[in-house]
Amino acid sequence: MKHTIMMDVDTGIDDAMALMFAIKHPDIDVRAVSCVSGNVGVERVVENTLKILDVLDAPDIPVAAGALRPLIEDPRSAAHVHGQDGLGNLGLPASSRRPVPVHAVEMMRRVLSDSAEPITVVALAPLTNLALLLRTYPECAAKIARILFMGGSASVGNATAVAEFNIWHDPEAAHVVINSGVPLTMYGLDVFNTVGLDAARVQEIAAAPGRVAHALGGLLSFRFPGEEGEEDRGLSLIGDAGAVCALVAGDLMRSQSLPVQVQLAAGASRGQTMVDRRTHVGEDTIHGTAGQWPVVDVVLGADVEKVLELFLGTLGVEA
Ligand code: BDR
Ligand code: CA
Repeated sequence: MKHTIMMDVDTGIDDAMALMFAIKHPDIDVRAVSCVSGNVGVERVVENTLKILDVLDAPDIPVAAGALRPLIEDPRSAAHVHGQDGLGNLGLPASSRRPVPVHAVEMMRRVLSDSAEPITVVALAPLTNLALLLRTYPECAAKIARILFMGGSASVGNATAVAEFNIWHDPEAAHVVINSGVPLTMYGLDVFNTVGLDAARVQEIAAAPGRVAHALGGLLSFRFPGEEGEEDRGLSLIGDAGAVCALVAGDLMRSQSLPVQVQLAAGASRGQTMVDRRTHVGEDTIHGTAGQWPVVDVVLGADVEKVLELFLGTLGVEA
């Protein structure tokens, strides 16, 4: 089955790996890439995205700069995770490609309205661009088949004890998207933190011949040695790339349809995705105080070895 998609990114080490996988996968047709502030500022995100397209010898895919900052708060980069350049300080040469001269929201609107069929949006960054699109051009929702987003968690957080970075960075945008009525798949930290490679495999990749293997090895190495914490067990995660794997290999994922809302209140739980995993009817339902929670397809786990096989095989890398 062919998947026609638009990607929304904050490239970013793992967004870079996600772009690599999406562009190399024979069943994925990437129609456009929109950029947003997140891991680094949006200008740097655009530069990084264009550099990665060069590494891949990708066709001329439109790339546009989008939101400079979250809807309400100031931008807060994750350069400590992704390197000062956002690409693990890989030192890739500047690209001669240029972004399209329209705002990402406008580019997305055009791509959607020009498409005969609804398009899936793979969102790997704070959801600011998508929230702006849905609020500015609500008619676009009908042309979006599904939004598959990396974000949130049904368990542990990373930006805070309970909030995942992409949602925490712009909780209001996440709220707009999650309540938009568009079918949603959430690829959150529950699965994100499990799909990774150990040091020996990363070294093999870094030593393999070819531009793609070299770049991939560099990106994965920057994260290694990773945190030896419980969550990622010292693995070098493929991160956002796993979400794109979920697009083409849903059968390798363990998912559940669950009610989800975003915590918007100020304080320690801001940006948390509250995922209702109860199997019984609670007092909130009995007493009519539950409110409406959109039901989201939440990916909770994966067949990690098979996902890694798919990822590396698609990039033509053995490890
Ligand atoms: C998410 O935040 C970013 O640092 C990564 O690119 C990923 O999209 C993980 O919380
Ligand atoms: Ca990202």
